Amino acid sequence: MRIQVLGSAAGGGFPQWNCNHPNSRRARENAANARPRTQSSIAVSNDGERWFLFNASPDLRQQINDNPILHPKHGLRHSPIQGAVLTNADVDHVTGLLTLRESQPLTVYGTRRVQGVLADNRIFNVLNPQFVKREVLTLDRPTGLRHADGSASGIVVVPFSVPGKVALWLEDATKGASFGSVEEDTVALEVRDGEGRTRFYYIPGCASMPAPLREHLRNAPLVLFDGTLWTDDEIVKGGVGVKTGQRMGHMSVNEPDPAIGSIAAFRDLGVGRKIFIHINTTNPILLEDSPERAACAAAGWEVSYDGMEITI
Ligand code: MLT
Ligand code: MN
Repeated sequence: MRIQVLGSAAGGGFPQWNCNHPNSRRARENAANARPRTQSSIAVSNDGERWFLFNASPDLRQQINDNPILHPKHGLRHSPIQGAVLTNADVDHVTGLLTLRESQPLTVYGTRRVQGVLADNRIFNVLNPQFVKREVLTLDRPTGLRHADGSASGIVVVPFSVPGKVALWLEDATKGASFGSVEEDTVALEVRDGEGRTRFYYIPGCASMPAPLREHLRNAPLVLFDGTLWTDDEIVKGGVGVKTGQRMGHMSVNEPDPAIGSIAAFRDLGVGRKIFIHINTTNPILLEDSPERAACAAAGWEVSYDGMEITI
């Protein structure tokens, strides 16, 4: 199975359009050690020709242009993109669907909750329903991804609920501290090949690490995990916003409490390869010469970048 990182930054990208934080500034200056990044998404393929997007970022058009694996190959209208699997309904994960207009056959996979959000918003009808199928993912049930022609791809996803939050644009302040979040709002994906030879986890958003999730991930060969922030209060302390990681539904890389700190949470889990993705513009691990990046590496973590290729 092949995995290609299309976008390694969190919502807003790196640099973020309105951000003048020193990190964003360095990325804008094209500093060699502050490589710009587009918004969170990977592509996955079992045959190297037909690909599934895992989340569809607002930068999808640029990501397609930047990644020849996603260029049209045959005839006048063609795309290697066979479908998109959604882990939530956040802006950075669904708005790329609008780029996939209009009459190109593909399948959009998401939980009933996420499918409901798409169905309630008529702008997603630019995905012509005559060509674009919408398939509901059931929690904890393996679903085989199908190519646009209906054939099996050999890629199986198992969505499971992780601590998280309803999409920012759907928050309901009348519903208390959870803002009306439900279990299906944020899922992780276990991704397997159909023959059971290989598997990995894709978890771009996760608010905490309860014991059952730890056990689920124990000894996994590969995990791509939420790397939004270095510390929970980084946005507040950096003076660029008022929200903590916990308020946004994200663990932080370097919090010492293993319930909300990723390096601490994974320390004894025996995971073969650990890679941060969905990294916010304020996170110092984006700077290749920072002590925080070195600390990440020392803890056995990689920091993903756009165009990163992984074969498992
Ligand atoms: C998040 O990951 O917290 C969201 O993408 C935030 C947003 O929608 O901007
Ligand atoms: Mn996000």
